[in-house]
Amino acid sequence: MSEPIVIVGSGVAGLSVALAAAPRPVLLVCRGPGEGEGSASRLAQGGFAAALDPADSVDAHVADTLTAGAQHNDVAMVRWLCAQAPARVEQLERLGVAFDRDAAGRRQLGREGGHHAARIVHAGGDATGAAIVRALVAQARQCGHVRRQAGVEVDALRLRGGQACGVRVRHADGSLQEIDAQAVVMATGGMGALFARTSNPPGADGAGLALALTAGAQARDLEFVQFHPTALDLPGRVNLPLITEALRGAGARLVDGAGRFLLDGVHPLGDLAPRDVVARTVWQAQQQGRRVLLDATRIEADWRARFPTVLAACLEHGIDPRTQPIPVTPAAHFHMGGIAVDADGRSSLPGLFAVGEVACNGVHGANRLASNSLLEGVACGWRLGTLLADVALPAAQGESTWCALGAGLPAVQLAQLRRLLWQAAGPLRSPAGLQDALQICENQVGEGWQARLAVAMLAAALRRPRSLGAHWCVENRSAPSQPLAIAS
Ligand code: SIN
Repeated sequence: MSEPIVIVGSGVAGLSVALAAAPRPVLLVCRGPGEGEGSASRLAQGGFAAALDPADSVDAHVADTLTAGAQHNDVAMVRWLCAQAPARVEQLERLGVAFDRDAAGRRQLGREGGHHAARIVHAGGDATGAAIVRALVAQARQCGHVRRQAGVEVDALRLRGGQACGVRVRHADGSLQEIDAQAVVMATGGMGALFARTSNPPGADGAGLALALTAGAQARDLEFVQFHPTALDLPGRVNLPLITEALRGAGARLVDGAGRFLLDGVHPLGDLAPRDVVARTVWQAQQQGRRVLLDATRIEADWRARFPTVLAACLEHGIDPRTQPIPVTPAAHFHMGGIAVDADGRSSLPGLFAVGEVACNGVHGANRLASNSLLEGVACGWRLGTLLADVALPAAQGESTWCALGAGLPAVQLAQLRRLLWQAAGPLRSPAGLQDALQICENQVGEGWQARLAVAMLAAALRRPRSLGAHWCVENRSAPSQPLAIAS
């Protein structure tokens, strides 16, 4: 049997590549106990953006995507993605995703921050990502060309003559296995888990990005990290449940401890202003010592049908969002930057492809529009898989070498790094703070791939002294006032 294409990661992007690559054999390699488990896709609440309403248009979706992205986007890529969206919704329905419909059978279209129209479809209310992952996994399990290997870490890439042609995986018992590949696809998701507060799962730690960069692939836009304004504020915890923006689309309002509306006078779209605007407003209020809460008590909705995930997460922590405002905090949510790829997902390293959040094709610009990420994962995953199904993949020639990720930071240093990045490279940055953090990362945090990735991200942020999109960098930021330190 010919060597497979190895796909590292099994969120919606990796799964879409796998399905579309038929009949080429693919091997899905993932960390979780099964495909899709532990992926950020599975946690995605927001939905899937598509101009489906007759009063809406692809052009309007394009315009909102470019505005959110601060016009830093690759315009051709944005046009392609938004034009794809309605057909991708229909395709997902054919694959078994039941998008929510009203009593008359019409798809329900919601609104989220930065959208000037109702164009977000959901499945199972705020459990959209889980519904899409479930459908794609079910399909993949029926496909003879898809094999899977779960519960393993990819710790090295094999290069032959400068071409990626295999991976080495580490099993739970520490044993290593080498796997030859016709090509390697990174679909490992983002790096939110390198920040002290994130809506991402623990596995979104940037390992795939760090490995690709170590192997010599070029990066793009690493400085652009999106902070979601409303994660459940659980002090001392890194991975926080998301409180979906769809709640604000349904009328919830951000208030401070005194009940004052936080977004009044800040932006014409109010509570539905682009995510970076809302996240900064929440962050600044917190830095002034004000509590921030999301008041969703006036929403007239069947919570169990529309917001089951948020309801369950809040109830688990003793908050009933139907009657009590929800304490919220910004949290690292999405990395717009990543492995630089072309429109098809080719990286600068022959044989290495990337797709989804780990990749950067420029579509999200400096700040992703809400609910464009599941869309990107499915559309770009399908595009790459279709390419791989047919393309001639030249056999790698030459001596084989292994490029290893290397050791990670010990737990204490990793926690310090997370605090450092949160303080210096969070929703509000300053050149001095970034410089300070870079020096600490280089000299004090210790050896580990997470520190190398943080250095690359901080250096990219320092090369952009002016604010753009989610990278908000001001000369004299008002807080934090204490000098940066890695100690707690
Ligand atoms: C949300 O539900 O608020 C997040 C959606 C997204 O990340 O696009």
